Amino acid sequence: MKQIQWFPGHMAKARREITEKLKMIDVVFELVDARVPLSSRNPMIDEIVEHKPRLILLNKSDMADPAVTKQWEVYFSEKGLRTVTVNSKTGQGLNRISDIAKDLMKDKIDKMIEKGIKPRAVRGLILGIPNVGKSTLINRLANKKIAKTGDRPGITQRQQWIKVGKEIELLDTPGILWPKFEDQTTGYRLAVTGAIKDEILDFGDIAFFAVQYLKEMYPDKLMERYNLEDTSAPPLEVFEEIGRKRGCLIKGGEIDYEKAAEIILRDLRSEKLGPLSFERPSDF
Ligand code: G4P
Repeated sequence: MKQIQWFPGHMAKARREITEKLKMIDVVFELVDARVPLSSRNPMIDEIVEHKPRLILLNKSDMADPAVTKQWEVYFSEKGLRTVTVNSKTGQGLNRISDIAKDLMKDKIDKMIEKGIKPRAVRGLILGIPNVGKSTLINRLANKKIAKTGDRPGITQRQQWIKVGKEIELLDTPGILWPKFEDQTTGYRLAVTGAIKDEILDFGDIAFFAVQYLKEMYPDKLMERYNLEDTSAPPLEVFEEIGRKRGCLIKGGEIDYEKAAEIILRDLRSEKLGPLSFERPSDF
């Protein structure tokens, strides 16, 4: 997984680049991870996008808990933000984007028609933090493989418009924004979903955070996957029990914490516990 360190200079540069791109476009497609829709949003997104019409795409919805994703749809809608739940890998949900984008542009299109101007295609830009699925989405919409953009602001590349159906044109280079680093919980949520590299936070801590969360929100899935009798013990004991069940032991029968953490995170990221969400509107 690629990773950049976001220093203030990088953030400023990324922001400048996006502001440039925004001048060319009508609608912003803000890509977020459906499993952590708020943690995977850039903290300054509202300020950066300003008044451009915006559509939030809840991506990787195949990996998220469908009931929780529904709650997020309501949450955003109550804030006046349109969302579409998508899976960029399979293309599920993407056929709705065009109509909603046109709808968001209705006033502008109506004005053009009033003035006797033939409305041109709606121009869109995909924005999101690294690893949220921007390239996958662009490739899916373009129906071909577009060269992957480096996750680094400042690498200039030629920009082209990709036709998506008859009425949308998409900039083929997405806008890359930095994730939230606001608090530890946000960091852990992003790490569990693989949005930030494991080296930034301690691997064992990330897995422990995951066990704590699963114990509370998805105890049945935890019990089923690791053959646990129950999950009422304190999180560390549950963690240790998982380690024991998985044979993560070192000499003397002690738990090999690192190995257990590795297994838990690998299982989560390869969806061995099924689709899960790591934050819900009621957390906020
Ligand atoms: P980025 O441009 O925003 O940095 O993200 P990118 O498209 O590279 O996607 C990051 C990872 O997320 C990729 O997996 C990609 O396949 C996966 N992904 C993107 N959208 C979806 C989705 O809707 N559902 C699921 N399940 N996965 C999605 P990878 O493991 O890094 O690469 P690969 O194994 O697909 O080659």
